[in-house]
Amino acid sequence: MKALEGIKVLDFTHVQSGPTCTQLLGWFGADVIKVERPGVGDATRQQLVDVPGADSLYFTMLNHNKRSIELNSKNETGKEVLTRLIETCDVLVENFAPGALDRMGFSWERIQEINPRIIMASIKGFGPGKYQDCKVYENVAQCAGGSASTTGFVDGPPLVTGAQIGDSGTGLHLCLGIVTALFQREKTGRGQKVTAAMQDSVLNLCRVKMRDQQRLEVGPLKEYSQFGEGLPFGDATPRAGNDSGGGQPGRILKCKGWENDPNAYTYFIIQAAVWEKVCDVIGEPDWKTEEGFATPPARLDKLNRIFERIEEWTMTKTKYEVMDLCNPMDIPVGPILSMKEISEDKGLYATGTLVKVDHPERGEYVSVGCPIKLSDSDVEVVRSPLLGEHTTEILGDVLGYSDSEIEAIAASGAVGKLKSAAE
Ligand code: COA
Repeated sequence: MKALEGIKVLDFTHVQSGPTCTQLLGWFGADVIKVERPGVGDATRQQLVDVPGADSLYFTMLNHNKRSIELNSKNETGKEVLTRLIETCDVLVENFAPGALDRMGFSWERIQEINPRIIMASIKGFGPGKYQDCKVYENVAQCAGGSASTTGFVDGPPLVTGAQIGDSGTGLHLCLGIVTALFQREKTGRGQKVTAAMQDSVLNLCRVKMRDQQRLEVGPLKEYSQFGEGLPFGDATPRAGNDSGGGQPGRILKCKGWENDPNAYTYFIIQAAVWEKVCDVIGEPDWKTEEGFATPPARLDKLNRIFERIEEWTMTKTKYEVMDLCNPMDIPVGPILSMKEISEDKGLYATGTLVKVDHPERGEYVSVGCPIKLSDSDVEVVRSPLLGEHTTEILGDVLGYSDSEIEAIAASGAVGKLKSAAE
């Protein structure tokens, strides 16, 4: 049995944020029915195409464990089918531009009328207020949520991060809201509306930077490298380069081979508790007791010198050797792993964090599996559906339409061309 077995999800999502959420629900065992525009589908099917004629990796990697129905929700018959789906499903998830669902004729009020038990979950770029009507993509959210202004080096421009905290991050937040609402429904019998704004989700992930904003109002941020370097602070949390956010000095340092390998680096933290071990390992035992080095506050204005010395040592080792030497001493370090190295890590395949998936159009590809492990609800990653692959099955098995009714629905133009079992 899977954790969400028996839960039906009407998946009206597209691009990345919403699909991340519904893919998780699918991995936890929900029956996810992805509604797509006939003949077109989720725009990402055709974005960044690497195998001509096949669904892109963008689409396949975000839409595992779902069934696809083609349905024109602006066609009258299509609206009737959609109404039946709303009646039948436990959850509706959408991330259309603000107002799109209302324009289709499916406001929250109308949806509740159709099914008072349904949980309707929406992602928008911004919450209520000045920007509520904006269309928003990943990097806009990173900028508006405080991530970009706090990422990068103090003397450089704001930076966006490679982690999709705006899209996938918001999908995760929404997923938590949905399962919480399902839990509450167990007691109340009522559905509810769940919303997650991308700006809010990014800000939630930037919580420590808001912490620093308030600390800055009472004095300089002493653990920031900028403090030790004597650079004045402005009135907002600055970019902190590769400083660690938790108050322990840390940096990214070169390792052996850095001249040719852009990822021959390690993260190195000089936590107070392991300072003496750090001194021993790098060959500076005197720093354990020397004035100006012995205590964390005394070291703050010497961090550049200290990390330069540590880097002299890390440059004599590969990033993996640094890890192997430091880990047994509890010195926190982390190799900078490239996507290539990660994609070749057998351990990640063993845990299901990476999976190989077979696809009829594109053959085998690597995907990121479910990062959340439940001991009593196994995840089996099932390839993403082809556009409209399950239209007939959903109309018949889920909504109970007869064969002749299905033909009439198809003739109305509400769904795409029906696929035969052989297709
Ligand atoms: N049948 C008929 N029409 C459909 C349909 C279907 N099955 N599915 C979608 N449509 C229509 C919508 O109703 C909408 O029509 P309208 O403009 O007449 O109301 C239209 O397709 C386009 O939808 P929209 O959501 O506006 O797509 P877009 O490509 O213009 O914008 C986003 C994309 C992502 C910017 C926008 O959806 C958005 O801001 N979403 C919320 C934030 C978000 O999730 N962003 C991150 C994405 S990773």
